[in-house]
Amino acid sequence: MEIKVRDAVPGDIQDILDIEASSFEFPWSERMFMNQLQLRSIAAVLVAHSGNAVTGYSVVWFEGEDSHILNIAVSSEYRRRGVAGKLVDEIIRRSRERECVRLYLEVRASNLKARDFYVGKGFRIRGIIEGYYQENGEDALLLELSLI
Ligand SMILES: CC(C)(COP(=O)(O)OP(=O)(O)OC[C@H]1O[C@@H](n2cnc3c(N)ncnc32)[C@H](O)[C@@H]1OP(=O)(O)O)[C@@H](O)C(=O)NCCC(=O)NCCS
Repeated sequence: MEIKVRDAVPGDIQDILDIEASSFEFPWSERMFMNQLQLRSIAAVLVAHSGNAVTGYSVVWFEGEDSHILNIAVSSEYRRRGVAGKLVDEIIRRSRERECVRLYLEVRASNLKARDFYVGKGFRIRGIIEGYYQENGEDALLLELSLI
């Protein structure tokens, strides 16, 4: 299985929404993804694919010296095959191209699988943001990776 990463197009949104709905208790809406697609200069929506099958996606913002992962998920049948790793590698590449020095994200304190994934990619836990997630008041861990 060869996984490649490319920019998302509007025709990918349904596949993205299907993965989103099966990955998160509080999924993003179609409008939220469409809005991100329109923010081309500051945001990238990336999809990982194997042939025509969308296997995962990520949304990243480029914020001056920082880049910020807002969302990332992999279809359950493609997990543990390096798909998220490829998405993050492409985010790192594009962030460096834009001269970002730090990549960061928030992750739910309860999401131990994602935490393991990020720590495996070299991210460090920089702090806890109490009550960050409005839907249920859960804390976020702030994770960051130096790009320099
Ligand atoms: C977290 C997530 C994106 C990882 O995607 P993935 O494509 O399976 O990750 P990879 O295959 O690239 O994993 C690389 C390494 O990360 C670690 N890792 C990934 N998933 C893990 C898990 N469930 N438990 C423990 N370690 C894990 C492992 O070290 C793995 O290497 P290995 O498979 O050789 O042991 C995926 O599980 C997912 O979509 N989860 C639901 C959505 C989510 O929580 N997103 C993150 C929100 S911040």
